[in-house]
Amino acid sequence: MEKLTSFYKNRKVFVTGHTGFKGSWLVSALLSFGAKVYGYSIIDHNKKNYQTFCDYKKVKNFYGNILDDKKLYLAINKSKPDMIFHLAAQPLVSESFIKPKLTINTNVNGTLNIIECVRKIKKIKSLVIITSDKCYKNNEIRRGYKETDRLGGDDPYSASKAAAEIIFNAYLKSKLINLKNLGVATARAGNVIGGGDWSKNRIIPDCAKSILKNKKLVVRNPNSTRPWQHVLEPISGYLILGKKLRNKPKLYSSSYNFGPSASQTLSVKKVVDIFFQELGIRKKMLRSKSKFKESKLLKLNSNKSNKKLLWKNTWGMRKSIQETAKWYKQYIFSKKKLREFTLSQIKQYFYD
Ligand SMILES: NC(=O)c1ccc[n+]([C@@H]2O[C@H](COP(=O)([O-])OP(=O)(O)OC[C@H]3O[C@@H](n4cnc5c(N)ncnc54)[C@H](O)[C@@H]3O)[C@@H](O)[C@H]2O)c1
Repeated sequence: MEKLTSFYKNRKVFVTGHTGFKGSWLVSALLSFGAKVYGYSIIDHNKKNYQTFCDYKKVKNFYGNILDDKKLYLAINKSKPDMIFHLAAQPLVSESFIKPKLTINTNVNGTLNIIECVRKIKKIKSLVIITSDKCYKNNEIRRGYKETDRLGGDDPYSASKAAAEIIFNAYLKSKLINLKNLGVATARAGNVIGGGDWSKNRIIPDCAKSILKNKKLVVRNPNSTRPWQHVLEPISGYLILGKKLRNKPKLYSSSYNFGPSASQTLSVKKVVDIFFQELGIRKKMLRSKSKFKESKLLKLNSNKSNKKLLWKNTWGMRKSIQETAKWYKQYIFSKKKLREFTLSQIKQYFYD
């Protein structure tokens, strides 16, 4: 990891969706490595991440819609970054049923806009596009999905991520991206957990909110298993991928899975138990039926990332849940030290 952190020192990195859950962790990690960070996101006043744990004063912040291609181009061109990580998206399956057009527009055309920008701005050497495990046609099979498996999506969010993947592939295969100077890849990860996530209809944020609001915890599909993973696991994958693309664009431009190891799946109910155990709180769980169709089983096969990128999961599933619970404990009882606490988790992950 030492080589990775020193690679990013003083490097100019542009992050879209930098004020979101994953974006805040990626920016915090990059800042801790000494990178020069530029960010582009819509202003979202509901985002509690903004300034709570990530030091945005150290970031050159641009605010605009990813669909505003002129504004996006100007922001990137002004920053002249070496690398881009594209995370800006409407990331929730549940929200995609309510706002299907916005979801598809943001996730598909947003990706298209970023690809077009990097084609025009010669200074950029690598682009990592964050999609999702949900880009696969989910047949509820037991084995993990491989990068070569069929893409699909039976809901607007999943379809939008599959579409973004197909567009990326078309640009790559049609040689619309000059791989001599520019490495481009997509990164597919599953549900991630970690501090600072306040999204609707996600189990860990729901657990934390139930404590903060002193309300009962309502859980949809308690027996569903998911490939739980700490947010730093895929973030480390994105960072390794960005570095490899930067150094050998032709060799690494492709799609990669970043999931937990196949032996690690836990039910929603078990995750809730571990979370409250860590906080030393007893809470009753109310079951409710999901209003939306949700897939029951979704696993990723990350052999390609393990072998080709030498990426691996560092924290096990239990530790990931415990570290997440510790972050929320810190938030609930000592908000002031949140930035230091987040950095201590990043340090533990990348340096210990
Ligand atoms: N969190 C997960 O479990 C998970 C799992 C798989 C994939 N992903 C993907 O990772 C990425 C980040 O997800 P997240 O969980 O951090 O989401 P988030 O909602 O916390 O953050 C989304 C970010 O995108 C920005 N954004 C949204 N719409 C925009 C627009 N139209 N123009 C410009 N910026 C816009 C927001 O301001 C925010 O900064 C997304 O692409 C998501 O699909 C997330």
